[in-house]
Amino acid sequence: MNWRGHRVVVTGASSGIGLALARELALRGAHVGLVARRAEALDALAGELKSAGGMAIACPADCRDLQAIKESFAFFEATVGPIQSVIAAAGVGYPTAIDLSNIEQTVETFGTNVLGVIHAFHAALPGMLRRREGHLSAVSSLSAFKGFPGESAYCASKAAVNTFLEGMRIQLRGTGVGITALCPGFVRTPMTDCNTFDMPFLLEAEDSAKRIIRALERRAGVACFPMRMSWLVGLLRRSPDRFLQWLFSDYNAKALPGSPPKA
Ligand SMILES: NC(=O)c1ccc[n+]([C@@H]2O[C@H](COP(=O)([O-])OP(=O)(O)OC[C@H]3O[C@@H](n4cnc5c(N)ncnc54)[C@H](OP(=O)(O)O)[C@@H]3O)[C@@H](O)[C@H]2O)c1
Repeated sequence: MNWRGHRVVVTGASSGIGLALARELALRGAHVGLVARRAEALDALAGELKSAGGMAIACPADCRDLQAIKESFAFFEATVGPIQSVIAAAGVGYPTAIDLSNIEQTVETFGTNVLGVIHAFHAALPGMLRRREGHLSAVSSLSAFKGFPGESAYCASKAAVNTFLEGMRIQLRGTGVGITALCPGFVRTPMTDCNTFDMPFLLEAEDSAKRIIRALERRAGVACFPMRMSWLVGLLRRSPDRFLQWLFSDYNAKALPGSPPKA
C-alpha cells in the first residue's frame, strides 16, 4: 500500500495514539485530516507536520456530535479531496464506579468510544461506496475481549466497537470498502499516564502507530497487539471470577472508593 498522497482522516489526533498515527502517516506522504475537540492542538500539529514537509489539515469536531463530524469531514474533502481512509482513534477511559455513580462518565464513554466511531464511519462511508474504494478502521482495545472489574463500561464500549466492525466488515465484502478493528494492549499516552499500577507489555505510542499502519497495509480484519498481551488477555478470559476479583482488588480499592477491600 502506498501512503503517498493517500487522503486519511484520523480522529483523536490531538493526543496519544491518534497524534502518533498522524505523524507516522504524514511522514509516509499521506494527506492527513486531524480531528479532535482541541482546535489549538490540531493547528499546532498541522503546522509541525507541514514544516516537516508533510500535508495535514486541522478539522476540529466533537465525535459525539454527528453533524459536527459530517461538517469536519466535508471540510477535509472540500479542501483536500475524497476521503480514502478513516482511522477512528478518539476515545476516553474512565473506571466504572461500583455503584455506577459516575454515570456521566459512562455516558461519555459510550458517546465517544462507540457513537464517535459510528459517526465517523457514517460521514465517510456513502462516498466510499459510491467510489467503490475506501478503508474504515477504529482503535478498539484488547479490553474488548473481557469485562474487567472496575472497567466494565470501557470494556463494554470496546466490545461494542468490535462487534459493530465485525458486522460491517462482513456486510461490506465485495464493495471495495474494508474494515479493520485495531486492538492494542497498554500504550503510554495521556490516557494511561494516571495509571498507578505496572502496565504489562506497555508500548510507546509511536510503536503502536507503526503496528497500526502495518495492520492497515495488510488489510487485517482484526489486529491484536502486542502478541504477549493478547495471550495474557486470552488467559484472563478463561480465569475464574474469584481470581480476577483478587487480581483487580488493589486497583479497584484505589481507583474506586467504595469497592470491597482486597479479597
Ligand atoms: N492508551 C492505551 O493504553 C490504549 C489501549 C488500547 C486502546 N486505546 C484506545 O486508543 C484510543 C486513543 O487513546 P489514547 O491512549 O491515545 O488517549 P489520549 O491520549 O487521551 O487521546 C484521546 C484522543 O481522543 C480525543 N477525544 C476524546 N474525546 C473526544 C470527543 N468527544 N471528540 C473528539 N475527540 C475526542 C482527544 O482529543 P480532544 O480532547 O482534543 O478532543 C484525544 O485526541 C482510544 O480509543 C483508546 O480507548 C488506548
